[in-house]
Amino acid sequence: MDAVSAVAGKRQAACTALLRQVREIHQRDGINAASLARIKGLLLDLAGAGTALFPEADFAMPQAHGRNHLLDEARDDGYGLYLTVSLPGKEAAPHDHGIWCLAAGLSGIEEQRFYRRTDDGRKPGFATVEQIGDARLEAGTAIAMADHDIHSTLVVGDRPSRALALYGYALTRFPAVVFYHPQFGTCRMLPSKRGPSAAAASMAQGNRP
Ligand SMILES: [Fe+2]
Repeated sequence: MDAVSAVAGKRQAACTALLRQVREIHQRDGINAASLARIKGLLLDLAGAGTALFPEADFAMPQAHGRNHLLDEARDDGYGLYLTVSLPGKEAAPHDHGIWCLAAGLSGIEEQRFYRRTDDGRKPGFATVEQIGDARLEAGTAIAMADHDIHSTLVVGDRPSRALALYGYALTRFPAVVFYHPQFGTCRMLPSKRGPSAAAASMAQGNRP
């Protein structure tokens, strides 16, 4: 086995092992703050392998903004594990994925801000949010978000941000994502990919929100 395929094989085994552990935790404890914290520790451990398992040459740069490389995808509508590469300046407005997610940094810096919704949700298309925290996603750090937690992202510095990202559903089967626009007090919802017709339309892998 040559060096490239040896690394790819070890990486695949490590990713498959991670998803197996996540499934065990999920089935035993459900998804809550404590189980997300345990999963975050596992993802941090995997990211700690750094370029030994995730060499930069194996994961092409995006032409613009960001790119998601699928590492592993659990069968039966399961989780999605990715290596994401985001160029400096790539940003995402505050949004709610509708599903839990975690990320662990490999290199570069992505600034994360966290928000909570402050309106009652009764007026369609309108929403107010306020910032409640922040974090830096870089090597040695990780974040965990519950189904409807809200965050915004911005890659800072002059290097791309590389990170492992684990979602409760694969990106091709993502639920509706809600984007918030604090300066206007509005929100908009991207369509869910979870319907039968939506699944066929989402063969192309979407950008990480
Ligand atoms: Fe996000």
